[in-house]
Amino acid sequence: MKKLFIKTYGCQMNVYDSARMADLLAPHGYGLADAPEDADMVILNTCHIREKAAEKVYSELGRLKRIKQRKADEGGEMLIAVAGCVAQAEGKEIIARQPAVDIVVGPQSYQRLPELIAQVHRGTGRALETEFPAEDKFDSLPTEVSSEGPAAFLTVQEGCDKFCTFCVVPYTRGAEFSRPVSQIEDEARRLADRGVCEITLLGQNVNAYCGAGPDGEEWSLARLLHRLARIEGIRRLRYTTSHPRDMSDDLIAAHGEIEKLMPYLHLPIQSGSDRILHAMNRQHKADMYKKLVDRIRAVRSDLALSSDFIVGFPGETDADFESTMTLVRNVGYAQAFSFKYSPRPGTPAATQAKQIPEDVKDARLQALQALLSEQQRAFNTSCEGKTFDVLFEKPGRKHGQAVGRSPYLQPVHVEGAAHLMNRIHAVRIEAALSNSLKGALAERMSVCAP
Ligand code: SAH
Ligand code: SF4
Ligand code: F3S
Repeated sequence: MKKLFIKTYGCQMNVYDSARMADLLAPHGYGLADAPEDADMVILNTCHIREKAAEKVYSELGRLKRIKQRKADEGGEMLIAVAGCVAQAEGKEIIARQPAVDIVVGPQSYQRLPELIAQVHRGTGRALETEFPAEDKFDSLPTEVSSEGPAAFLTVQEGCDKFCTFCVVPYTRGAEFSRPVSQIEDEARRLADRGVCEITLLGQNVNAYCGAGPDGEEWSLARLLHRLARIEGIRRLRYTTSHPRDMSDDLIAAHGEIEKLMPYLHLPIQSGSDRILHAMNRQHKADMYKKLVDRIRAVRSDLALSSDFIVGFPGETDADFESTMTLVRNVGYAQAFSFKYSPRPGTPAATQAKQIPEDVKDARLQALQALLSEQQRAFNTSCEGKTFDVLFEKPGRKHGQAVGRSPYLQPVHVEGAAHLMNRIHAVRIEAALSNSLKGALAERMSVCAP
């Protein structure tokens, strides 16, 4: 038995891809290792979204090189592969900069890993595979999916045609592509058979989903959600990440129609200033976003929102930044991610004049994060006294304690719940802690896993 260690950076889709790479290599004799020191093969599944994320890869490769050398000195072997978005964007540079790397494989071609490993073993040299192949990788991946715990990710859509001026994703993941409905349904059923009861549908633009349906028509995300909601073992559905432009009428309606669809939506806006939104090529205005939120809340009054924000986009003035703060105050978020603008090679915004000084970015980020944390605290406090269904995922620190997720993805700590692992049980929320909730088991009981 050979050992494989995968380190994952970046978004949930990379988490999904890492699991699929493990599924792909299992029949080739690779079991998972806990540390690179124990591994015959290490895969770094990388992220290119901000400069810091991409730089981490090169320092990690330096560390791996030393481990590889030690192994070689002892007569052993360790293959190093770089996968994911840095591999796609900087494949040739990685090969040139780090001789210890054996394989570079982009996110659309990792189904070829077994072949690439064989190529390296044959001694025909290092392998670089960053074309966008004509064949669909999902057709070549194993249909058996592994799953850890009761909540799983399922990629339904990949790629992006939106070309926001700050973003590398359209270049690293390629054009928008939707998997066929039957393939997704099959994977969801397999997950349910393994005891998974919560599925998060993934896509860079998940609500642009338009996969081929069994009736030969193009299905929307809403139609797909209705279909998946019929799978008995699946008790909770989520989807991420959505673009405000693709929030169609049927998807908004689905939030009021599908009980299994959790009342929590990640809907990135990036900025509250129309001028900046235009420069970002977001193709929506702040007011349109606000109206969208109102419409979704009208069909699902308990909906909570999360978002992504960028501060310090080129040309952002104090007034633009104030518009972002006003939008946040008007919408009210349960949670959010905020970042300083990071110029990315090959994207239009990177070469724009009026780049914002680092200290201004820092100050804006701090102000925005203070407001967002205040809103998160207020949201968590508003949960006190309410009863939520909690899906228990792991043991807590204290004996008998278990930690689960609320419908809003908040971690919930409950004592005397260790026997409820992988199940959904009603919990009365007693206290809001800084990043989680504390609760007690409530009367109502629902059973999840078989
Ligand atoms: N639609 C995508 C967005 C991926 S990137 C999705 O599926 O999640 C996630 C977030 O990173 C973006 O919403 C944006 O807020 C942030 N981001 C992207 N490019 C960035 C950059 N150049 N600098 C700073 N933040 C960036
Ligand atoms: Fe990037 Fe914009 Fe596409 Fe999201 S929609 S992946 S931010 S280009
Ligand atoms: Fe990063 Fe690629 Fe995801 S750049 S955020 S890993 S799509």
